[in-house]
Amino acid sequence: MPSQTRPIRIGLIGCGEIAQVAHIPTINFLSEKFTLTYLCDINPNALAFCASRCSSASPPKTTQSAEELCASEDVDAVLVCSTDAYHTCHGVAALKYDKHVFIEKPLALCRWDITKLGHAEKSSKGRVFVGYMRRYASAFLDAVKELGGTEGIQYVKVRDIICPNSIFVNQSGTFPRKFNGVSDEDMKDLLDREAHMVREALEIDMGLAITENRKTMLRLLGGLGSHDLSAMRELLGMPRGVLGARLSPTMWTILFDYPSFAVTYESGFNSIPLFDASIEIFTENKVVTIKYDTPYVKGLPTTMTVREKFGDGTAYQERVLRSSYEDPYTKQMGEWWECIVNGKEPKTTIEDAALELEIFKMILKAADIS
Ligand SMILES: NC(=O)c1ccc[n+]([C@@H]2O[C@H](COP(=O)([O-])OP(=O)(O)OC[C@H]3O[C@@H](n4cnc5c(N)ncnc54)[C@H](O)[C@@H]3O)[C@@H](O)[C@H]2O)c1
Repeated sequence: MPSQTRPIRIGLIGCGEIAQVAHIPTINFLSEKFTLTYLCDINPNALAFCASRCSSASPPKTTQSAEELCASEDVDAVLVCSTDAYHTCHGVAALKYDKHVFIEKPLALCRWDITKLGHAEKSSKGRVFVGYMRRYASAFLDAVKELGGTEGIQYVKVRDIICPNSIFVNQSGTFPRKFNGVSDEDMKDLLDREAHMVREALEIDMGLAITENRKTMLRLLGGLGSHDLSAMRELLGMPRGVLGARLSPTMWTILFDYPSFAVTYESGFNSIPLFDASIEIFTENKVVTIKYDTPYVKGLPTTMTVREKFGDGTAYQERVLRSSYEDPYTKQMGEWWECIVNGKEPKTTIEDAALELEIFKMILKAADIS
């Protein structure tokens, strides 16, 4: 286990948007806990730009080889922010060198990748921590406490209707930059890995034919969807099935079946610059709502609202709890630090992320799309 007397030395793979907007600034602020010592990207301009954004005591080393970063003695733990199709190979490389590894969501889209990561973790001293930051948000944790379980739940509504991320990213004050241009060889490798991932997910895991609509929906569920579906799973456990699903790439609506209640999940994109994301849990005596704002603008609070009977039951009260302004990315990094330094067991593990694949399967099999 790394020494507790110095910050954990992070090697970051994938110097794109989420690294620039969230992880590098967060690590810079958490300088007593973490320092960035190594960066990797296949794009040299992204590498140079991100290196200039790190406020580590000495400038981070840079490389285009993820293996080189993972093998380095200057790295205690690896943060994987690369494109989805590389999460497994970068995670496995980190585990091979006994490094703790944080992997952005979606951890994986198919069982093949989950199995590879699981084997690598078993023979490693490192542990995988999956980046489902909404599950580390203070309002989410407050709601878990407020509800104390699923007993008495009558109905749940999960909503995530947002405008394109670029609108928030461009107003985030972090001024990220996009760098296009990778070699033909890297592009071919990416396309091959994506094709393999989709084939494994749709054909092998789900027994469905590969179509453009299914491919698009799989990627959307893994992208925006995994935030909501993983939070739903932690709050409510796994659904028994899907009663109905209407899927389109702009808006999708799904009705989940739980043993004693139903959940509607509505999500998608329009052009109104709003981040309308919430989970609303109805019980006989109270309604608990977790409200998220865009995570790209640092410091916007997440809140829990409780609407309930008051006094003799004829009166009504509404409580809004904003227990912290600390953003979910910061909370999440604090939890990862606890896992690395104090051996705390993460809640967002490989096994946990594997359950997401079951939900994707329920949805895609229930939907009338081809
Ligand atoms: N938790 C969140 O809120 C959140 C938000 C956005 C994205 N994400 C996840 O983060 C990941 C990255 O998303 P993004 O929006 O930053 O994407 P992006 O395309 O902006 O960045 C990905 C970066 O990875 C690099 N890369 C690709 N292949 C590589 C390789 N083989 N080796 C090294 N670098 C490589 C690319 O050059 C690029 O710079 C995705 O998995 C996404 O789902 C999470």
